[in-house]
Amino acid sequence: MAGTAHPGVDLSGSTAVVTGASRGIGLATAQHLAAAGANVVLTARTQEAADAAAAQVAGPGTAVGIAAHVAHEDEARACVQRTVELFGGIDILVNNAGTNPSYGPLIAQDHGRFAKTFDINLWAPILWTSLVMDASMRERGGSVINTASIGGMGHEAGIGMYNASKAALIHVTKQLALELSPRVRVNCVCPGVVRTRLAEALWKEHEQAVSSATALDRIGEPDDVAGAVTFLASDAAQWITGEELVIDGGQRLGSPAGFREETRARG
Ligand SMILES: NC(=O)c1ccc[n+]([C@@H]2O[C@H](COP(=O)([O-])OP(=O)(O)OC[C@H]3O[C@@H](n4cnc5c(N)ncnc54)[C@H](OP(=O)(O)O)[C@@H]3O)[C@@H](O)[C@H]2O)c1
Repeated sequence: MAGTAHPGVDLSGSTAVVTGASRGIGLATAQHLAAAGANVVLTARTQEAADAAAAQVAGPGTAVGIAAHVAHEDEARACVQRTVELFGGIDILVNNAGTNPSYGPLIAQDHGRFAKTFDINLWAPILWTSLVMDASMRERGGSVINTASIGGMGHEAGIGMYNASKAALIHVTKQLALELSPRVRVNCVCPGVVRTRLAEALWKEHEQAVSSATALDRIGEPDDVAGAVTFLASDAAQWITGEELVIDGGQRLGSPAGFREETRARG
């Protein structure tokens, strides 16, 4: 694993909630925030998974796992309340949990898959932001970071429903940045293809091809995104709000091989 250190970033005394932190980008984010000194609450759908994830966080910040389905309001409220009881408030909310149950053309989808995708990927970030505002941030300020995707910035075969939810999340990030200003900053990260379970269909069978089509010649690792989230949570980003930060190794730039070929062809 790449290092979790962020020289010059000190989150000591602050508290973060990271949803969907049992593995992947959420777990790495919790590890980075705790390494910078923050106390971190990691959520997952089962207490077992949340506990196992918290046990993988080295600190110096304290890590606690709390079970909560992100779209179940009672569980979300209880998690936020418990965090405030444990640590006295919440300074950082990372709305990271995400799902993609709906591969295929948009017109082949059904309402069940639409509702699940949009409940988890869009409604939950709004719900958790609202709960955290009421419980703590309205009074003490803070930083909210949503995990969107570069998929929300373009169009791709087969994942139109997921991408629509992430496009909406980018929009909602900017809306919330205005609504919650000036005390609370709201930003999102837009990862490219990252080595996690959720995205396996995008890299597992053809990692070399995806890497070759990426300027930095590799797919992303959860740590790549966690570092950017930690930056956005910190005072180093204190005048940044309403932004989408792309972390994709250059995937949106297009194929570097094609670019080099064209450069050669033009002499
Ligand atoms: N990997 C990529 O290439 C990529 C690219 C762009 C954006 N993203 C976004 O990054 C975020 C993290 O995904 P990942 O790639 O790290 O995937 P992952 O490793 O599969 O992790 C997904 C996490 O979300 C949690 N989760 C899923 N549904 C949940 C629910 N209903 N309630 C609570 N937690 C739930 C899972 O926890 P449990 O299953 O333990 O409950 C797990 O911790 C997602 O928002 C995803 O859309 C990923």
